[in-house]
Amino acid sequence: KLTVPERIEEKRRAALLGGGQARIEAQHRRGKLTARERILLLLDPDSFVEFDMFVEHRCADFGMEADHNKYPGDSVVTGQGRINGRLAYVFSQDFTVFGGSLSGAHAQKICKIMDQALMVGAPVIGLNDSGGARIQEGVESLAGYADIFLRNVLCSGVVPQVSLIMGPCAGGAVYSPALTDFTFMVKDTSYLFITGPDVVKSVTNEDVTQEQLGGAKTHTAVSGVAHRAFENDVDALLNLREFFNYLPLSNKDSSPVCECHDPSNRLVLELDTIVPMESTKAYDMVDIIHSIVDEREFFEIMPSYARNIVVGFARLNGRTVGIVGNQPKVESGTSQEYGGIIRHGAKLLFAFAEATVPKITIITRKAYGGAYDVMSSKHLRGDVNYAWPTAEVAVMGAKGAVQIIFRGKEKHKEAEYVEKFANPFPAATKGFVDDIIQPSTTRLRLCRDLEVLASKAQSNPWKKHANIPL
Ligand code: COA
Repeated sequence: KLTVPERIEEKRRAALLGGGQARIEAQHRRGKLTARERILLLLDPDSFVEFDMFVEHRCADFGMEADHNKYPGDSVVTGQGRINGRLAYVFSQDFTVFGGSLSGAHAQKICKIMDQALMVGAPVIGLNDSGGARIQEGVESLAGYADIFLRNVLCSGVVPQVSLIMGPCAGGAVYSPALTDFTFMVKDTSYLFITGPDVVKSVTNEDVTQEQLGGAKTHTAVSGVAHRAFENDVDALLNLREFFNYLPLSNKDSSPVCECHDPSNRLVLELDTIVPMESTKAYDMVDIIHSIVDEREFFEIMPSYARNIVVGFARLNGRTVGIVGNQPKVESGTSQEYGGIIRHGAKLLFAFAEATVPKITIITRKAYGGAYDVMSSKHLRGDVNYAWPTAEVAVMGAKGAVQIIFRGKEKHKEAEYVEKFANPFPAATKGFVDDIIQPSTTRLRLCRDLEVLASKAQSNPWKKHANIPL
């Protein structure tokens, strides 16, 4: 009979092996790392502090009570650790134990770290790789999901929550990632769907593969459910570490300010000629962003979805900034109206208007109609609004405008319209932009403004919660 210290040691050894060597090898053959290998890559060396290594499932049906069906730690590894020295709580589902399926005990482990993360004010990162609800447990498993969803909602807006989908995530399991702030996926090995291809076939008679239905390409380019996809587990985890550096630990914390080796007063000469003289010729907003931000580093979010807008994170003189840029390279048309552009545009406007962080806007060229207002205009409490000399602020383009006000009869009026509106003066003379700046000085101005605005304090009227258009 084993002594207590021997039993402790044996359980720990068993926990480290998850579902056993054969299943670990099967996981590797699929090109996936194990739950523990992933945690080790994500966190700083020797920083992982594990919780609940001795927790076991409590199911006594379908032979689950047998010793050989008990795995110390069950099907998820949980705990806290550091990413570049900053605290993060992590759960990593272990596909080698009952396919990473969610038992009551598994859910309880996740809830425990979420509760603590909320209490101390630190982000929660979920590494998802699970066959869904633990079938043998029935409603206990479903209850476990709901316990997690509730915490996802309570944590929302308090601590950052990030999901990385690294295997299957199906059925009710999809709602937790959907509730978190960011959802990333691994190409070829991860998928998210409410019901699998078999059910789709039986209900609608459509033939679809798992990859087509819920793979990384589908969710990053078509549905917009996921924010970015990475090549493999290692690439995804290293990118997640980099992404984490942009985030504040909680809503009481500010984003980290990193040491910056890129001079804040660097002139970006190529910007003086980047916008083509011809007003209908396109240019690439991503080039502009890269040339302005620290070390050309831009962490783009949803690069393959709604490609007519570019969003992501970067730094200016070491400070985290979120960037929203219109992309003139990509055109839109009727499908936009059918797709509910009014609703979506309202959402964007709402987000800009309610934001109380420092807001700086640069009109590089066209700011037409509602877009002028929506894109963080002075009227939505923009703190500093600039125009480049190439800016054109008007209700609409010259051709359309003349067509409406002169019914197209007076072609020469087009030139008059261009003369009047295709320049930054109408906005600048009214104080709706604060200055017209030389494009090459943009980085310098932004860095200086952010320094000044660092102490900005602004609040919104008291409300129970806002009602952003969905
Ligand atoms: N509950 C309990 N055990 C589960 C499980 C679940 N939801 N999903 C998978 N498992 C177990 C399997 O029995 C298998 O156990 P074993 O290692 O002892 O043989 C192990 O996890 C691996 O599953 P397997 O089916 O062999 O792996 P796969 O890669 O071929 O397929 C899935 C993975 C997820 C596609 C498949 O297991 C599946 O469809 N699971 C059910 C998904 C589902 O509908 N869940 C409910 C949604 S809420």
